[in-house]
Amino acid sequence: MPSADDIAAWDAEADTFDEPVDHGLHDPAARRAWRELLLGVLPWPPARVADLGCGTGTGTLSVLLAENGFQVEGVDFSPRMVELAERKAAGVQGVRVTQGDAFEPPLRAASYDVILCRHVLWAMPDPAVALARWIRLLAPGGRLVLVEGRWSNGAGLSAEQTLRLVQATGRAAELTRLVDARFWGAETQDDRYLVVSATGEPQAGDR
Ligand SMILES: C[S@@+](CC[C@H](N)C(=O)[O-])C[C@H]1O[C@@H](n2cnc3c(N)ncnc32)[C@H](O)[C@@H]1O
Repeated sequence: MPSADDIAAWDAEADTFDEPVDHGLHDPAARRAWRELLLGVLPWPPARVADLGCGTGTGTLSVLLAENGFQVEGVDFSPRMVELAERKAAGVQGVRVTQGDAFEPPLRAASYDVILCRHVLWAMPDPAVALARWIRLLAPGGRLVLVEGRWSNGAGLSAEQTLRLVQATGRAAELTRLVDARFWGAETQDDRYLVVSATGEPQAGDR
C-alpha cells in the first residue's frame, strides 16, 4: 500500500512534470524519437498496452500510442497525475487512465499484449515482486517494455540489475541503451536504457 506521503509527493510534481523534454514530448524531434523507439518494439496495433505509473508524461506516451492505433490503459496512484493525463487524453480514442497502485495493478490478468513502464520499476517496494505481478497481466505472447535508468543522483536501477530482474522470471530480455540525445533533449551521462522481453512476433516497427 503506497503511503499518503508518497502519493502527495508525486501529486506535487504533477503540474510541472511535463517540462522536461522526455516527459511532455513537446519537442517534435523528441516525440518522433519516442514514437520510433516504441513502435520498433511493440506488436501491431490494436495491441492492448498497460502503462504502469503513467504519470502525465507517459500520459503523453499513452496518447501517442493511442493515436497510432493502440488500446492503452494507464495506471497511476497520483490523483493529480491522473487528472492531467485524462485531460491530455480527452477526445483521443483508445486511451483510459485509472487511479491505482502499480505495485498491485487494478487490471485483469492475462489481458494485455504489452506492459509498458517508464521510470517506475525502480520505485516499486520490491521490483521482483512487481515484475512477477506485471507478467501475470500479459496475455499469451505478450511482452514487457521497460524504460529505466540509473541517474547521476544514484537513484534508479542499472541496466544489469533490470536485466537480471527480468531474467530471474524465466524470460529473455534484450537491452538497448538510450544514448541518443533526442530522447532527453540533451546528452546524458546517466545509464538510461530500454529492456524488452518479447516472444519474437513481427512488430509494429517492421512496417
Ligand atoms: C518518474 S514518474 C514516471 C512517469 C511516466 N511513466 C513517465 O515516464 O513519464 C513516476 C510516476 O509513477 C507514479 N508512481 C510511483 N509509484 C507508483 C505506484 N506505486 N503506483 C502507481 N503509480 C506510481 C508517480 O505518480 C509518477 O507519475
